[in-house]
Amino acid sequence: MVGLENDKVILRALRGEALEVPPLWLMRQAGRYLPEYRALRAKAKSFLELCLTPDIAEEITLQPVRRFGFDAAILFADILLVPYALGQKLWFQEGEGPRLEPLTVDAISGLTRAEVPERLAPVFETIRRLRKSLAGETTLIGFAGAPWTVATYMIAGAGSDDSAAARLFALKEPKAFARLIDVLVDATVDYLVAQVSAGAEVLQLFESWAATIPAESVAVYSIDPLTRIVEGVRAKASVPIIVFPRGAGSNYLRYDAIGADALSLDTHVLLDSVVGALKTTCLQGNLDPFRLIAGGKALEDSVRHIRRAMSGRPFIFNLGHGIRQETPVEHVQQLVRLVREKAA
Ligand code: CP3
Repeated sequence: MVGLENDKVILRALRGEALEVPPLWLMRQAGRYLPEYRALRAKAKSFLELCLTPDIAEEITLQPVRRFGFDAAILFADILLVPYALGQKLWFQEGEGPRLEPLTVDAISGLTRAEVPERLAPVFETIRRLRKSLAGETTLIGFAGAPWTVATYMIAGAGSDDSAAARLFALKEPKAFARLIDVLVDATVDYLVAQVSAGAEVLQLFESWAATIPAESVAVYSIDPLTRIVEGVRAKASVPIIVFPRGAGSNYLRYDAIGADALSLDTHVLLDSVVGALKTTCLQGNLDPFRLIAGGKALEDSVRHIRRAMSGRPFIFNLGHGIRQETPVEHVQQLVRLVREKAA
């Protein structure tokens, strides 16, 4: 590893260093709250085209870093590129979100990861370009969805708040469900290792629908597949890994035991209550995205509280979930100023 790269603040926090000013990036920092994103989006045929055209994906990744000077750039892509690469039809319905051709038991036995590297080759090209264009101090983060979260979209064919279709499928078709999780684990390891080979310096795993897993199934649906991914990636690549089990509640303690380099905390976690309880090296989070929309004192109070609660321990400042479309750009600017003030 090159010496200079070790000095990037995100990598230092992930290795266990408590920084006076925490490193900062935001989940979904590239996207529709930015006018320059909307301009590119309006010109493209589809969201998928944005993700799979290296020129465009590179530019969108850089937009928020250029505007705000975040400490990390997160690759512009989507967790549903893995089902797409496994051969499931995927499109994004304007104003409604992702749609997939719902999976049947038969279709699951036909899924193969053979074409994943080839179908996602444009993503790796985007990463190679980004490593050349990013300034020396900015860390490039790659990512993938956790198998349960990705499976909820694959089974229902769309997003849902309760993951009803996947939960029922897992209970009624346990063999097919287990096969689906296994294919996703293997495909995700391949995908993430290829991201690191192309130049990703940190990986984040999004378990966005952790809250919909019944407690007795958390180990089988989520912890075990995530552990296999973390171990599978580490066997082939040396890279820090962040796990984000959104809505895990008291199960955060079980995610803590995976041994990832960082655990990303959602908005529902009361920081003062977890700091002593979690063993994972670095924590990340957890500003309420609505405080970023509100701005002013609502934002100030929370940033100060988070910084105080996390001072003296390895920490990366982030949101508790992705930035929302209606967020004023000036409030993001205010956030950057507040996080970078010397005294919390
Ligand atoms: O964070 C970033 O800036 C990098 C890019 C990124 C996107 N999606 C771009 C995107 C990342 C890391 C994701 C992750 C993702 N995608 C998750 C996990 C994180 C989370 O939010 O819980 C999930 C569940 C998805 C699936 C997905 N993609 C949904 C549910 C939607 C529709 C919701 C929405 O906001 O429209 C998408 C579309 C999507 N992915 C957009 C962006 C910028 C909006 C697409 C558009 O411009 O029309």
